[in-house]
Amino acid sequence: MERKRLIQAIGLLLTLAPTVAMTGDAPSLKEIMQGLRNNLVEISDGLLTDDFEQVIRGATSIAEHPKIAPAQVQLVASALGPEMAAFKQLDTLVHDLSLEISASAKALDRDVAISSYQRMIEGCFDCHRTYKERVAAALGPEPEAQSER
Ligand code: HEC
Repeated sequence: MERKRLIQAIGLLLTLAPTVAMTGDAPSLKEIMQGLRNNLVEISDGLLTDDFEQVIRGATSIAEHPKIAPAQVQLVASALGPEMAAFKQLDTLVHDLSLEISASAKALDRDVAISSYQRMIEGCFDCHRTYKERVAAALGPEPEAQSER
């Protein structure tokens, strides 16, 4: 009986280990955002030079951006309360528009790609306008801000 429980416990540990390691490696929201900026630049460059492959690369990276670490999700959720749903909705909007950008780039439809791109950037700024400051504060002050105290 004891032995069986021990084996079960070891089995559970082995299943959980990779999850724990992955969570520890999850990028911060700020790092995810820095990635989004690079992807946005890629899309802009691609649209300006008619390089549809580059547009697809940038848009696909935005669509598949890494998830925020669970600990940070909790901090954001407690700072925003019921507004968390609207915050997530803006992330979904940007996600959906990045898919539209890559679909129209695949179809070599520059006009649709450009209008989806403009709507996507509005989504970036909508979230920043409403939530950036509050969420950044909830996730912890910058080292400079801390030393001012
Ligand atoms: C759902 C909300 C949301 C959306 C959508 C969003 N952002 Fe952000 N963004 C944030 C928040 C919150 C921060 C502040 C993070 C922090 O300082 O910890 C931020 C910060 C940033 C920063 C500053 C990073 C730094 O080094 O200080 C950049 C750049 C950025 N976002 C780019 C983008 C781009 C590009 C898009 C659209 C493709 C986008 N964001 C969409 C919420 C969002």
